[in-house]
Amino acid sequence: MTRTLLICKPDAVERGYVGEIFGRLERKGLKLAAVEMRTLDDDTLAEHYREHQEKPFYADLVSFMKRSPVVVAVVEGPEDTFAIVRTLMGSTNPAEALPGTIRGDLGTEMTENLVHGSDSAESAAREIKIFFPELL
Ligand code: RTP
Ligand code: MG
Repeated sequence: MTRTLLICKPDAVERGYVGEIFGRLERKGLKLAAVEMRTLDDDTLAEHYREHQEKPFYADLVSFMKRSPVVVAVVEGPEDTFAIVRTLMGSTNPAEALPGTIRGDLGTEMTENLVHGSDSAESAAREIKIFFPELL
């Protein structure tokens, strides 16, 4: 069993796609180990997106992620759950994401790309610790 962190970003919650997103993960065969709605603050986002702090898009990313509540989840599956979730998510830019993926089917522009998924087993462990320390 392995786990990864998924966030339904503010646009996904605002547009009513939380059930759609979790439905896709569940139909794939993955399980939810934890789910919580939260409004993220600067400190949590700085820790979560620390690799992006110096990037030109960081300020826009943070203001988007704080705009309204998100739904944070720990997703569980067999091997490399992070990679399965990233495949279901599609490319970062929804304009380029393939049909059949969450971003490819539901989004049109870069920042508002509906979901976050950990990008490696190491990131998953680090990010789960930020949001659900009791699970580790
Ligand atoms: P995420 O971390 O949210 O799962 O997305 P990702 O791995 O596919 O993409 P990443 O490179 O980690 O970027 C994090 C988030 O920042 C926003 N972004 N905007 N305007 C831009 O050039 C730009 N680049 C990235 C997106 O919301 C992206 O998901
Ligand atoms: Mg990323």
